[in-house]
Amino acid sequence: MFDDTLKVFKELTKKDFRILTGIELEMKNWEWVPVPDLQRYAELPTEKLTYHLERLRRKKMVVRTLDPYEGYKIYFEAYDALALNAYVQRKTFSAVGSEIGVGKESVVVEVLKKPDIEIADPEVFILKLHREGRTSFKQVKRTREHLVGKEHFSWIYAARLSAHREFTIMKKLYPDISIPKPIDQNRHTIVMEVAKGSELSKTKVLDPEWYLDEIIRQIRLVYSKGIIHNDLSEYNIFVSDEGVQLIDWPQYITKDHPQAEELLRRDIENVLNHFSKKYMVKRDADEILKDILNNTVFDSDIAGDPEIRDLVTRDDVAQAENAFSDSGEFEDYKD
Ligand SMILES: Nc1ncnc2c1ncn2[C@@H]1O[C@H](COP(=O)(O)OP(=O)(O)OP(=O)(O)O)[C@@H](O)[C@H]1O
Ligand SMILES: [Mg+2]
Repeated sequence: MFDDTLKVFKELTKKDFRILTGIELEMKNWEWVPVPDLQRYAELPTEKLTYHLERLRRKKMVVRTLDPYEGYKIYFEAYDALALNAYVQRKTFSAVGSEIGVGKESVVVEVLKKPDIEIADPEVFILKLHREGRTSFKQVKRTREHLVGKEHFSWIYAARLSAHREFTIMKKLYPDISIPKPIDQNRHTIVMEVAKGSELSKTKVLDPEWYLDEIIRQIRLVYSKGIIHNDLSEYNIFVSDEGVQLIDWPQYITKDHPQAEELLRRDIENVLNHFSKKYMVKRDADEILKDILNNTVFDSDIAGDPEIRDLVTRDDVAQAENAFSDSGEFEDYKD
């Protein structure tokens, strides 16, 4: 599916992107965006605009209704294309490589950045395209604290907010916590460095005790900043000769979350279960949990950082929305 988007992406013109941006922005106000509302974005006479819309529709970038009026909306295909365009414009990367994962809630691909000097190798990064809300918005809402009470909000914004949350927390945690370096963010996507080594679930480490210690040390370090990963398992941990890296952060919680202790315990248990099953290395979850809860010296309190606190406690959806609409993305498409 993402491959199809890539093919179409290459055929899209500046005007196309302006129209898609118009639909994107107007979808805050309309389920189906009326054609006259797109005029000010496209700056085209009606018949030209209609022609472009028809072209976009044939490329499956927009969806149309004719009842009770002619209106348009976009789905993830166009959203992906808009994000790709923003990154290419600002030279975050210049080419998209292979797809390396399709998760329940994301598509993950490699991207390449041309080197500044001709003879150097291109840099490889990871582009994670969030897909929250694709299947069932209600289901996402139930498991994601930041979506509670936002039923009216479209799934596109759920994905966008999730990416925003993930990027924001990664910026705060890096480099103190061992995670891939966050590079850039746009719409429902983030760009980061490639994690070192491979997924814990896909490898057999030679020194499991050492890796388990390292993972627990990272969990404790994260907690010392007032944060709990809240989706930790062998699938979200990378291991290499150098150590471990934790990925996949959008569902993090802060230590004052009502279920903080329970969720921290679940993270610890997930990891312990893996080491117990695969390596017969046994540790006591209660002991580790108690030790982390009682003996952690709080470092810089990220949970109290206004940017993080506001994302968690305030009207986070509206805030994320503003963060994006202030970002001047629309300016990119002005001739
Ligand atoms: N920075 C990275 N470097 C290398 N691989 C990565 C990176 N980020 C993600 N991946 C790969 O993509 C997969 C999905 O990424 P991630 O876990 O962040 O998303 P997800 O949507 O939560 O996936 P799932 O729902 O399957 O857990 C990871 O399991 C990993 O294999
Ligand atoms: Mg994951």
